[in-house]
Amino acid sequence: MTRIAYLNGRFAPISTPAVAVEDRGLQFAHGVYEVLKAIGGRLVDLDRHLDRLERSLAHARIPMPTSRAVLALLLEECVRRNRLAEALVYLQIDRGVAARNHVCPEEVRPTLFVTVRPARFPTPEERTRGVAVITLPDERWARCDIKSVSLLPNVLARSRAAEAGAREAWLVGADGVITEGSASNAWIVDAAGVLRTHPLGPRILGGVTREVVLELARARALPLEERAFTRAEALAAREAFLTSTTSLVLPVTRIDDRPVGDGLPGPVTRTLARAYAEHAGLAIATEE
Ligand SMILES: Cc1ncc(COP(=O)(O)O)c(C=O)c1O
Repeated sequence: MTRIAYLNGRFAPISTPAVAVEDRGLQFAHGVYEVLKAIGGRLVDLDRHLDRLERSLAHARIPMPTSRAVLALLLEECVRRNRLAEALVYLQIDRGVAARNHVCPEEVRPTLFVTVRPARFPTPEERTRGVAVITLPDERWARCDIKSVSLLPNVLARSRAAEAGAREAWLVGADGVITEGSASNAWIVDAAGVLRTHPLGPRILGGVTREVVLELARARALPLEERAFTRAEALAAREAFLTSTTSLVLPVTRIDDRPVGDGLPGPVTRTLARAYAEHAGLAIATEE
C-alpha cells in the first residue's frame, strides 16, 4: 500500500510532498521532531510525546504551528490513512521557509510534516539473546535534551556501531560517564543490584520510554537510582539494556565485545521488558 504523508495542510503519497530548498530545517537543522508508535491505531504515550515536543519547540524558538488538540487529531489521521496495525510515526516541525539568514523573520510560518511507516520492533531473537553495543566518545553539543533534527554526531556514531556489528553506540563523556545511546537511553543493573540510568539534564534526551520504565520500576519497588554510570561500571554490571520508542526495552548482552553478566538478559531487564510491552499494548507482552 502506498504510504501517505502529510505536509503543511496536505495529505499525499509519500513520494509527492516536497520541502522547499530554503527550508530552515534543511539549511540550518533549525527543527525538532518526535517519533511515536501506534499500536492498533492508538498512539502510545501521546501526551508525553506532545509535552516533550512543546519543550523542544520552545527551546528551539519555533512557534507551535497548530493547537495541541489539532496536532493530536492530525497524528491520528495520519495513522488511520496508512492502515498499519503497528506503525512508527515521524513528526517534524521546523522553523519554515525564508531567504537564508541566521536570524528568522517573526512572520515565517513553521513547516510541519508527518510520515508513517510499518514498525519493526526487536525480533524474538534480539529479545531473548540481547544485542551488542560499542562505546564511543560523546561528540554532541551541550543541549542534548532538545530533540533537535541536528543529528550528525548521532548518525556517525550509529554508523560506526553498525560497521562493528553492534546495535547501538553508547556515548561516553570526557569524564568517563555513559550519557546515552545514539538514539536510545542507556541503563544498567550495577554490581550492587541497583538499576541505574543517567539523570535528566542537558547531557541526555529525556526519553519517553525512559520515563515510563522509571515509573514501572518504581511501581515494582526495584532498587533504582537516576545516577550516571561509567564505562567501567557498565563493564562490571550484572545487566544492561537500552530503551526507546522503537527498541522498547532491549537487553544489552555485550559491551565492546565483552559479555554483560552471564551474557544473557537478566531478571530485572526481562521484568521491565514485559511490563513495558504490556504498557504499550504490544502482542509480545503475552508471548513471554
Ligand atoms: C538521543 C536519544 N536518546 C534517547 C532516545 C529515546 O527516546 P524515546 O524513548 O522517547 O524514544 C532517543 C530516541 O530517538 C534519542 O534519539
